Amino acid sequence: MVKIAFLASHGGSNMQAILDGCASGAIAADPALLICNNPGAGALQRAERHGMPAQVLNARSHPEPAALDFAIRDALSAAGTELVILAGYMKKIGPATLAHYRDRILNIHPALLPKFGGRGMYGMHVHEAVIAAGEAESGATVHLVNEVYDDGPILQQARVPVLPDDTPESLQARVLKQEHLLYADTLAKIARGEITLPKPAG
Ligand code: GRF
Repeated sequence: MVKIAFLASHGGSNMQAILDGCASGAIAADPALLICNNPGAGALQRAERHGMPAQVLNARSHPEPAALDFAIRDALSAAGTELVILAGYMKKIGPATLAHYRDRILNIHPALLPKFGGRGMYGMHVHEAVIAAGEAESGATVHLVNEVYDDGPILQQARVPVLPDDTPESLQARVLKQEHLLYADTLAKIARGEITLPKPAG
């Protein structure tokens, strides 16, 4: 069983899809911890319902960015985390956490990277940009996290059509459904060894 931990900022519907997959046995992983920056995040209630420990760590609990980075790294590592799942986490991962979990942090992005990624490309902005660009398709991307927003190696993508009468909201809803399937499927494949992550350096 791979020990996984989540970082989330909002509703946590992607986290829920993965928790459901773990509970049903479809994903051979053991959810150990949720770290949330936002004390009002719906993800915290989802964790509680699932019986998964959760911690709020943010600039209020740790005003120094480096101290917050260490606190996140240490909480992940104390929970025995092997894989870190970003599930709508709106903060940048600090250098200490990145170094400790190099190639072991996954993110999901609601577009077909490398298009429509990078700074400022989050939430509804992504879907607005896809529609404004006249794209015929969009989708979701699961990728490894590195120092640059939305830049790490791509693990899997799912595609959806962009329909002529789409609004950013309707496109978001279509993409989000695929995100849930894609993120759960990617983790299931990692746990089964069908997707292999780069070997840790050293
Ligand atoms: C998703 O669209 C994900 O791609 C993005 O943030 C959103 C999170 O939604 N990174 P949820 O919190 O999982 O419901």
